[in-house]
Amino acid sequence: MKKRLIWMFLMFLALWAVPGLAADKEIDKETGFVIAPGFEEVKKTCTVCHSPMLVTQNKANREGWLEMIRWMQEKQGLWKLEPELENTILDYLAANYGPTAVYRRAPLQVEFPE
Ligand code: HEC
Repeated sequence: MKKRLIWMFLMFLALWAVPGLAADKEIDKETGFVIAPGFEEVKKTCTVCHSPMLVTQNKANREGWLEMIRWMQEKQGLWKLEPELENTILDYLAANYGPTAVYRRAPLQVEFPE
């Protein structure tokens, strides 16, 4: 019985803790944001209206992030961002929340019967 618990604990570590360490990214405890250049600006700007999780759950390239910002500006009352600030934010988002292969599973190989 005990062995089983230890085994489960190890599985937990393997599934959660190890990939986290392997990614070698420092995470802000308060927001869950990756700490990297632009982090302060994003933390200040992007947690005013909603949870940082809305940001961290998303992945997009720079264009995609720009679209989301424009959408929030049009529909959700996000104010105009100074170009310099906007650039910093976009650089940060594209670098740390981009569509990287790491987070995606390989495409399923499905064979359809003929
Ligand atoms: C003025 C308020 C406001 C600010 C500031 C703001 N947002 Fe939003 N954002 C919203 C609202 C409102 C929604 C829709 C929330 C919902 O659907 O529950 C949203 C949704 C989102 C979504 C989800 C979009 C989707 O397609 O589901 C993302 C991602 C996001 N925001 C990122 C950001 C980022 C990055 C910043 C900083 C540049 C930011 N937000 C700053 C108001 C804001």
